[in-house]
Amino acid sequence: MSHVVIVLAAGLGTRMKSGLVKVAHPVAGRPMLSWMLDAVAATHPQRTMVVLGHGADVVASFLPDTVEWCIQPEQRGTGHAVQVALGALGDLDGADVLIVPGDAPIMVGDVLEELVSVHTAGGSAVTLLASTVSDPFGYGRIIRDQDGSVVAVIEERDANDEVRSINEINAGMYVFDSTLLASHVASLKASNDQGELYLTDVVEEAVKAGQPVAAVSVPEESVLGVNSQQQLAEAALVIRDRIIRQMMGAGVRVIDPTRVYVDATVTVDPGVTIYPGVHLEGATTVGAGTVLGPDVYSHDSVIGADSHVWYSVLRGARVGDNCEVGPFASLRPGTVMAANSKVGTFVETKNTTVGEGSKVPHLSYIGDATLGRGVNVGAGSITCNYDGYQKHETHIGDGAFIGSDTMLVAPVSIGDGAVTGAGSTITQDVEPGGLAVERSEQRTIPGYAERRAARYRAARAEETVGEEDR
Ligand code: UD1
Ligand code: CA
Repeated sequence: MSHVVIVLAAGLGTRMKSGLVKVAHPVAGRPMLSWMLDAVAATHPQRTMVVLGHGADVVASFLPDTVEWCIQPEQRGTGHAVQVALGALGDLDGADVLIVPGDAPIMVGDVLEELVSVHTAGGSAVTLLASTVSDPFGYGRIIRDQDGSVVAVIEERDANDEVRSINEINAGMYVFDSTLLASHVASLKASNDQGELYLTDVVEEAVKAGQPVAAVSVPEESVLGVNSQQQLAEAALVIRDRIIRQMMGAGVRVIDPTRVYVDATVTVDPGVTIYPGVHLEGATTVGAGTVLGPDVYSHDSVIGADSHVWYSVLRGARVGDNCEVGPFASLRPGTVMAANSKVGTFVETKNTTVGEGSKVPHLSYIGDATLGRGVNVGAGSITCNYDGYQKHETHIGDGAFIGSDTMLVAPVSIGDGAVTGAGSTITQDVEPGGLAVERSEQRTIPGYAERRAARYRAARAEETVGEEDR
């Protein structure tokens, strides 16, 4: 079957009340328009022409190479947008034209394929996609005659009460015979409330000219258009649900599917377990056997197999196999954890490699550092990587033991197997196997506590005597 596609995406989307052009709003990590372009691509069109206008530079930047685009400089209505697209497409050589809006991200290829094949089989001038919905507000209503044939589409704003009570709506997706489409859109008139050229008027014109109009009816769930923030959230819910069902079908265990947020750009291997409150975004990947959550935010991070990450934030981090992260860890960009390593409670890392089997279990900031294998960093230890002007590096050798509350003033190197005493501020390199302690010597004063208590008791006794005198 040979057809071309026109995607209408020039509108600003005023009802979104947002600074961003409507079709660029993200749904599960991808622009709204990209979802429709996937559905369109599944119908194997000869060509796809996207009509851009508002925010054209933003939208053009994420269009795939497989589509063409043109500019509708002024948004004078869906009929005008089709005029512009037909001009850009040139000779269609009899191919049918599938027209879709850019603001219906939940549309899937199967429904569009059905629309195209019904049109091809039926020999109508127009085949439109219809749906009977519970709340038709804002949509064009489908008008049928006594025989049930479609005779017109009337927009909400141009409708009287009787028309408004119709629940059958125009989904804004159609297949047209190209010759009839070209002649009808050329003679459209802006005789409506918005003063725009309505593509939907072609339906009535075709009927008047004795050309048959057909409709394919589909369930409400597959046609939701996005005109407001509420509808954007509803569409995102539908797509998120599809992603999570697909994951579960592939063997991912999801404890509560309503409380997990996985972008379409993420890869989760079978055998992963996901607790509630997990958000996986961007180029995140998760290996088999790993347990995520409760409460993990991961953006552009690679998490290996058989690891456990909970109550933590990962951005641009790489976590190896069999690692432990959290609770309450923040892995910032450039963090690389080798296999069997741990970054634990209230630990922040940045631009840091934690070697195989190494542990940073509690209350640390480790930045611009390399930790070898089998290193243990005691609680409260910190790399002082910033001198107020520049960042400096810390190197900790294999098997080194960093005592609790060590301040590692960078640049500094701790040799293999070296030890730092708890509470030390280390400003000089430590040789392999050495001990570095930096703190004043401890003094103990015998009997001090009892003498202090006696002083306190004496003072209290004097006060009491004074009170009795009064
Ligand atoms: C349109 C239909 C309505 C249908 C609804 C389905 C018309 C007149 N009405 O109404 O019957 O029920 O879709 O969602 O067609 N666009 C342009 N250039 C323009 C105007 C619009 O490219 O000059 C694009 C928009 O960016 C959008 C799409 O066309 O992606 C639909 O436009 P919109 O203004 O949202 O139409 P609706 O009022 O929703
Ligand atoms: Ca719309």
